[in-house]
Amino acid sequence: MDATATAPRQAGNAQASFAGTLTDKLKEQFDAGLLSGQDLRADFTIEQPLERYTETDHAVWRKLYERQASMLRGRVCNEFLQGLSTLGMDKERVPSFAQLNETLMRATGWQVVAVPGLVPDAVFFEHLANRRFPASWWMRKPEQLDYLQEPDCFHDVFGHVPLLINPVFANYMEAYGKGGLKAASLGALDMLARLYWYTVEFGLIRTPEGLRIYGAGILSSQGESVYSLDSASPNRIGFDVRRIMRTRYRIDTFQKTYFVIDSFDQLFDATRPDFAPLYDELRAQPTLGAGDVAAADLVLNRGNREGWADSDDV
Ligand SMILES: [Fe+2]
Repeated sequence: MDATATAPRQAGNAQASFAGTLTDKLKEQFDAGLLSGQDLRADFTIEQPLERYTETDHAVWRKLYERQASMLRGRVCNEFLQGLSTLGMDKERVPSFAQLNETLMRATGWQVVAVPGLVPDAVFFEHLANRRFPASWWMRKPEQLDYLQEPDCFHDVFGHVPLLINPVFANYMEAYGKGGLKAASLGALDMLARLYWYTVEFGLIRTPEGLRIYGAGILSSQGESVYSLDSASPNRIGFDVRRIMRTRYRIDTFQKTYFVIDSFDQLFDATRPDFAPLYDELRAQPTLGAGDVAAADLVLNRGNREGWADSDDV
């Protein structure tokens, strides 16, 4: 395997390895004079500092946009392409969030808000619950086109924002934020985080034309855009909330398993019920490894495990 998934978005406290990232990222930006104490609001947002983007930042955006737009033809779901086109997202330069928001607000009432990097879980959920998507404002460096440990502006904006134009997916994301606040109070963030991971970040959808990508972690990564659909290595398994909430995942390599939805309605409907009893039920059951196949799975493709790393799943 030559590269790993780029830029996973935080999905709850299951990503313990990201602990401290906010502080590091903030410190880096303060030290570089990119932010001052007055810039950061109580909800961890900032005004997108458009004047801070360099020509190199814009060139990186342009290169990634071009590369992914051509790579994704025939691979990404129509809803994503529709969103990209409705938003009229800038191909040449890092988009202005305010400009994107004019269209986004009209379509689904969502808006993108700029943040310095990963934000605390409770803050993240609070934003989603109020239809605000926190996006890192900064761009990765030219030498980081294929690998990044934390979400940058390209991952967050190109990867996540187009689907927020879709009314059903937009509702799902809001419900997820509300669910996150509740899960935190129930000590169930690890289970809910897996749902975000295997849907919002690494989800596939079944269409009449074949499997398509909708997860932002896949579609902002050149390597995983191909691997997730074409490789014989990973499992591809029918979506099942209970199953997903028990399944650990990878943060350092491509996924060993992708879960496939039939529609965004299926995703929203399956996650509509109160999860509290579900958490109680699932907490008593063992977790599954990222590459495990269970007897009750609807297996679309059983992975041949080629190239799988031996290191631990999270
Ligand atoms: Fe993300």
